[in-house]
Amino acid sequence: MKIVRAQETPTHSRNAFSRSSVTDGKLKCACGQWFMPSRSDAKHCSNACRQRAYRCRKYPNAKNEWYTPPWVINLVRQVMSITLDPASCAAAQKVVKATVYFTAKEDGLSRPWFGNVWLNPPYIPDVQKFLAKLLEEFDSGRVQQAIALVNAATSASWFHKLLGRFPACFVRRRIKFWRPDRGSTSPTRPQVLFYLGPNVERFVSTFAHAGIVTSSGLRY
Ligand SMILES: C[S@@+](CC[C@H](N)C(=O)[O-])C[C@H]1O[C@@H](n2cnc3c(N)ncnc32)[C@H](O)[C@@H]1O
Repeated sequence: MKIVRAQETPTHSRNAFSRSSVTDGKLKCACGQWFMPSRSDAKHCSNACRQRAYRCRKYPNAKNEWYTPPWVINLVRQVMSITLDPASCAAAQKVVKATVYFTAKEDGLSRPWFGNVWLNPPYIPDVQKFLAKLLEEFDSGRVQQAIALVNAATSASWFHKLLGRFPACFVRRRIKFWRPDRGSTSPTRPQVLFYLGPNVERFVSTFAHAGIVTSSGLRY
């Protein structure tokens, strides 16, 4: 367990739940909560956080390996074909069936993106790098259209950047993600799909079946 001072806390650590920071005798748990440790070796604010830290250490990639279910991909295909899935793996491609995909080993962040992009990014180590890359590639014109499926992280700056510019579908039900060995699971956070591209009306009419759709970036 490495304890670092608050200002040194890495915001995008590979394993966010493995670190805490300390100030004025209080510890900052990796979940963001400050707490007064009841024991000198306390590292987390609650049992739930301690267990999450354990799971992150034991299965560092487990959080990323949940794949998009067919019903979502079918809606995506009604809006656009999928040329590129830049954050993927062979198992996920049984459903996504992109023309080209990049795996963690190939590192989609270090490669040029193109065409119509389907993005369901990994959350560890940092989702924001994938979304920054998406914006960069879309603004450059290399990516013509994209649909990105993300957590409704309404306090994250990357979420605000997307919501301020692009139409979004706030999915009505919890999406059940799947993986071959574990069946399916619903994340604890709700999900949002953003559309980047010229066919806004098609996105709106298609995804209106899945939830509330904002037809353009929200700016008042
Ligand atoms: C949430 S899953 C989504 C998979 C697929 N795109 C889908 O929609 O079902 C994220 C995938 O990105 C992969 N991944 C993690 N880091 C990556 C990287 N740097 N480049 C490409 N893929 C990565 C993970 O292994 C995982 O399979």
